[in-house]
Amino acid sequence: MEQLAQNATAVFKEFFDAEPAYVGNAPGRVNLIGEHTDYNDGFVLPAAINFGTVVAASPRSDRSMSVVALDFDNERSDFDLDTLADAEASSWMSYVRGVLLALMEQYPDIKGAELTVTGNVPQGAGLSSSASFEIALLKAMASLNNLPLSGADAAKMGQLAENKYAGCNCGIMDQMISACGAKDRALLLDCRSLETKYTSVPADFSVMIINSNVKRGLVESEYNLRREQCEAAAAAMGLTSLRDASLELLNAAKDKMSTKEYQRALHVLTENERTLTMFDALNASDIATCSKMMAESHASMRDDFEITVPPIDYLVELLNGFLGTGGGVRMTGGGFGGCIVALVADAKVEEAKELVLENYEKETGIAPSIFVCSAEAGAFTQA
Ligand code: GLA
Repeated sequence: MEQLAQNATAVFKEFFDAEPAYVGNAPGRVNLIGEHTDYNDGFVLPAAINFGTVVAASPRSDRSMSVVALDFDNERSDFDLDTLADAEASSWMSYVRGVLLALMEQYPDIKGAELTVTGNVPQGAGLSSSASFEIALLKAMASLNNLPLSGADAAKMGQLAENKYAGCNCGIMDQMISACGAKDRALLLDCRSLETKYTSVPADFSVMIINSNVKRGLVESEYNLRREQCEAAAAAMGLTSLRDASLELLNAAKDKMSTKEYQRALHVLTENERTLTMFDALNASDIATCSKMMAESHASMRDDFEITVPPIDYLVELLNGFLGTGGGVRMTGGGFGGCIVALVADAKVEEAKELVLENYEKETGIAPSIFVCSAEAGAFTQA
């Protein structure tokens, strides 16, 4: 992050001829368990990671904005907050536009700013590069304008930017953990009440992330379809959310929904249970139970929710065989490619890496990327 901050500051000076008044960042995330439960008002257990987005910024006294994106060849965009709603935007600017419009729904009178932005969350890997971008931007604008924004307020705005302006009907997990993560902790989030509880990764264990580097296709349409199927299953039970369903209710209403809708709901209901069980297991440093929950979560994503792909299943099987009940592994994130997450004893990390490097490319023809991560504070977390 320090290197990113230096880069953002250097480019800021180059473009705006002054030191930035503010330099801050927001992290990406890895989800330990609780997949596709957030938009069903359920439970998730993510951690913020040591990859993120940095913004360098200075306030202006008028309503003009200038934004420079380091990761897009220092592309610069100049616009006015008053006419932003009618402006066309594509690529990274569409996120800037969505976030600022979401912010202005609550704070219409914010002042403009000069900003440079850069990040190192791998894009399209299921590690929430876009949520990290949204929360980093919101944090910068909140700081420059002295807005009394809480982490949860910012998360809701980031989600609104996705839902209303980027066309992705995502839940609130990614933005919440980017805003409210804690150093060395994972966060159990109740996505209905937004109640937060923290727990540690057991001592002597590392969180490993392996990017399958499978190019993700149709992600948004498949994602939005899953959400529709979950809502249809809830409606068939006479409910507005799967949070209020039980397995008994689901089985009793099986004939009122399609097979796919039943399977999607089954995943969500069992995943909520697994997430709560894993939180308790982490608190008790009970790795065998974590291992079981992660394995069952993966099988449920593969068989019931149908969001995994063969190279991801291969990686999970490979590591599962190696770790046994002494560690855990599953796909993480929205699905259709992206990353797996593993809880690995520190003493086994090197061997696990070698195993993946020796086998994955041979099997799939794709080179993997491996990260050993630390859990970091969120952008809005008070020190
Ligand atoms: C994406 C979405 C999240 C969540 C996950 C799946 O990351 O942005 O809201 O639904 O997928 O758990």
